[in-house]
Amino acid sequence: MARFTLPRDLYHGKGALEALKTFKGKKAVICVGGGSMKRFGFLDRAEAYLKEAGMEVYVIDGIEPDPSVDTVMKGAEKMLEIQPDWIIAMGGGSPIDAAKAMWIKYEYPEITFEEMCKVFGIPALRKKAHFCAISSTSGTATEVTAFSIITDYKKGIKYPIADFEITPDVAIVDPDLAETMPKKLVAHTGMDAMTHAVEAYVSTANCDYTDPLAIFAIKMIQSDLVKSYNGDMSKRDSMHNAQCLAGMAFSNALLGIVHSMAHKTGAAFADYGAHIIHGAANAMYLPKVIAFNAKNETAAKRYAEIADYMALGGNTVKEKVALLIAYLRKMNDDLNIPHCIKNYGADSYPCEQGFVPENVFLERVHDIAVNALGDACTGSNPRQPSVEEMEKLLKCCYYDTEVDF
Ligand SMILES: NC(=O)c1ccc[n+]([C@@H]2O[C@H](COP(=O)([O-])OP(=O)(O)OC[C@H]3O[C@@H](n4cnc5c(N)ncnc54)[C@H](O)[C@@H]3O)[C@@H](O)[C@H]2O)c1
Ligand SMILES: [Zn+2]
Repeated sequence: MARFTLPRDLYHGKGALEALKTFKGKKAVICVGGGSMKRFGFLDRAEAYLKEAGMEVYVIDGIEPDPSVDTVMKGAEKMLEIQPDWIIAMGGGSPIDAAKAMWIKYEYPEITFEEMCKVFGIPALRKKAHFCAISSTSGTATEVTAFSIITDYKKGIKYPIADFEITPDVAIVDPDLAETMPKKLVAHTGMDAMTHAVEAYVSTANCDYTDPLAIFAIKMIQSDLVKSYNGDMSKRDSMHNAQCLAGMAFSNALLGIVHSMAHKTGAAFADYGAHIIHGAANAMYLPKVIAFNAKNETAAKRYAEIADYMALGGNTVKEKVALLIAYLRKMNDDLNIPHCIKNYGADSYPCEQGFVPENVFLERVHDIAVNALGDACTGSNPRQPSVEEMEKLLKCCYYDTEVDF
């Protein structure tokens, strides 16, 4: 038996934020990040709509990018004081993910972070509050997913919390919020979405319900992302939908080792100033992982189907896989994203020698490989790597060398 779970309601299209007016409840907490939602007026609008719906409104702000366990615990304490019956998370993946984890802790104050991280082990929520997610970036699709990514900075590791219990009750996908994204954020979040769709399509948990969402999202991202990056606002709007479709696919089909590696490298070099942004990590690793997974016949055929759907040409499966890899690399070039960790420099732009020195990478690569294998996303990858293979793959992602194993 398989399960397919999505939010009960999804409001989409320009102005969809207004749906908040129709919510029924007494107290709402709005969770936001560092200031973009306030700056662009969306926070004030959300507050006004909820007040119009007759609710008392509180705000938890300042949730940092790649939120920490600490932030989650502090936020949950505030929720325990306020006792909201609606949690409204608004912003990029970071504040929404943090709010999801706060929600768990608010409903179960005794639960530890380790217990939250047990895959599909969250007890029943919604005894105290319902959850609405309003995305302002076009990538993570956390507004529709069963995931929340929280970083343990003491260990330098990102932990995915995964359970359909944390799939929001309501998602609001209003492209107005995405129009204020700076270019770099468009690039990173867009390649995150592309990775979600590709990994979902080849995942061992793919099914008839997830395939159409994944493949259509890939086609939309192919046609819209670079144009959105270059300032076409109509494409920016459709990317907001495309990323959400990709999210619906991966929340149910799960992901693969591109994400395992991104989770385990993201904060691993923070002490060298290299915070490897999630979407950029995915963009760098995806072509390498395709080459690795394509040694598995079923996966290779699925990649070839993607290439066909994208109309990339090629006659054999091998040629089609190679064309897909080349296409994705070209997208990275068009979006000014480097191809490997070695070249990951200031502001995430390509440069000759980036933040992560070779000797530091080599010292840490074994532990990162072990951690990546243990990531919740590894189980649904179409080819199961050994620790040695994972280490080799990570080295290819450091040096941008060919994956021939
Ligand atoms: N839960 C999931 O299913 C899932 C999936 C993929 C990634 N993630 C996680 O999500 C996080 C990344 O989220 P993200 O990529 O959305 O970025 P983010 O939430 O970390 O935001 C990045 C920056 O962009 C700013 N910002 C956000 N929206 C903006 C807008 N519309 N205009 C201007 N500035 C804006 C924020 O203030 C912040 O400074 C990572 O922790 C990643 O691991 C979660
Ligand atoms: Zn992702």
